[in-house]
Amino acid sequence: MSKKKLVVLSGAGISAESGLRTFRDSDGLWEGYNIEDVATPRAWRKDPQLVLDFYNYRRKNVLDAQPNAAHYGLAELQKDFDVTIITQNIDDLHERGGSTNVLHLHGEIFKMRSERDHALVYEIKGDIKIGDKAEDGQQLRPHIVWFEEPVPMIEEAIPVVRNADIFVVVGTSLVVYPAAGLVNYAPWDIPKYIIDKRIPYTSELTNIIAIEKPATEGVTLLMSLLKEDSKS
Ligand SMILES: NC(=O)c1ccc[n+]([C@@H]2O[C@H](COP(=O)([O-])OP(=O)(O)OC[C@H]3O[C@@H](n4cnc5c(N)ncnc54)[C@H](O)[C@@H]3O)[C@@H](O)[C@H]2O)c1
Repeated sequence: MSKKKLVVLSGAGISAESGLRTFRDSDGLWEGYNIEDVATPRAWRKDPQLVLDFYNYRRKNVLDAQPNAAHYGLAELQKDFDVTIITQNIDDLHERGGSTNVLHLHGEIFKMRSERDHALVYEIKGDIKIGDKAEDGQQLRPHIVWFEEPVPMIEEAIPVVRNADIFVVVGTSLVVYPAAGLVNYAPWDIPKYIIDKRIPYTSELTNIIAIEKPATEGVTLLMSLLKEDSKS
């Protein structure tokens, strides 16, 4: 019997208990910075050093962080389900937690790319500095989708959500588009579990099972609720 397709859309809330702060929980600031000053193409043009400092620091934070029970729990579900994680997170905690099928909508903190040719992407564990160049001679920048930039991975994510048998949303306020719009592609008749400390507003979704808990507790509960489902 083939496994059911379980699709997860995750956001910064799933990594909060690993010590990585979300920004919407702290008055619209991300670790003390205005998003417009560090996470937009305009910020990069105006003050690339500040942008690099910000992401170099984020990279150190992520290196120091460990996956939590929510990341591990979703990886464990791979035993019984065909799991795809679509994450808005730039950290690698899903992968380190054991998930093998992870699609990063907004880029990855451990990658950098040419500021001109988006296909020239490289691994990076340390800092990116002004003067660090890609093969095309262009400055390297974080491989991150900044606000106001297109989200190319959304095209890959849409059919994955369309084909889901079970849909799970964890730790996202569902306000950043186009990522938030993915929920509308989930078939109307499949179960949609939403796990969040504060359940986000979703007016048009049907078959919602809301689990208003921190991600670690919420995913543990989800696992017990799904145990029976994997057999049906
Ligand atoms: N870890 C990361 O990679 C990271 C961290 C911060 C921001 N970001 C970037 O910023 C964008 C949006 O960030 P955001 O912070 O608004 O995320 P978001 O829009 O995904 O909102 C955070 C959500 O998490 C919930 N939450 C907070 N703590 C939780 C917990 N312990 N358990 C369950 N839910 C919890 C909040 O109620 C909120 O709904 C992301 O798409 C990402 O690109 C990434």
